[in-house]
Amino acid sequence: MTKFSTPENNKKAMFPVFPVPIYINRLTDDREFNQALVRKVETLRNSDPEGVEICKKEYRTGYTSFFSRNQIQKDAEFAEIAGQILRHGRCFARSMGFSTENPPLNLTTMFGTITVKGCYHEVHRHRNSLISGTYYVSANKTSARIAFLDPKAGFRMHEPGGQTGQTIFSNLEFSVQPQTGLIVMFPSYLEHWVEMQQNDIPRVGITFNLDLVSDEDC
Ligand SMILES: [Fe+2]
Repeated sequence: MTKFSTPENNKKAMFPVFPVPIYINRLTDDREFNQALVRKVETLRNSDPEGVEICKKEYRTGYTSFFSRNQIQKDAEFAEIAGQILRHGRCFARSMGFSTENPPLNLTTMFGTITVKGCYHEVHRHRNSLISGTYYVSANKTSARIAFLDPKAGFRMHEPGGQTGQTIFSNLEFSVQPQTGLIVMFPSYLEHWVEMQQNDIPRVGITFNLDLVSDEDC
């Protein structure tokens, strides 16, 4: 446990003692790689009538293989991106203080998502995982943002406001604008949602969950 000792000069101190980490990094700028991945996700949708049918009820206008094919990390077509996601996942996990060796960090689920105009995703968490995230295969500056909710929000009896309201301790929400080639990861407990897609160009992503489990368990 980290302990605080009063500094000798007794000056005022303010510390962000329980920060929530969100990992944002550029995974690749390789256009051909990403364009090929878009085609693979489209092929996934086109070969998944069961998933398309479930999505009509559960995911409105968009498509996700979460309901029907959420193990695409085991598919040779997605092996390279799975490996790169895992590499970033290990980096993030270690930054949070986790060992990723025993048990190792592994992808437990991975699925493709195509977000089209009018599609959004309500507030949710990813249960039974350590880290969740999305690799944005195709997105632009007007694609639907992913937004996060302060996990302490439910405990607040008063909301900060007024002229002095905007500090690092007052944020209730934080959002990220997806871009092609960007990977965004967060602790799985963190509530988040996807805002409504407003433009006509589909936003394509590969979403995943990571946990500290052996290969045989996932
Ligand atoms: Fe999610």
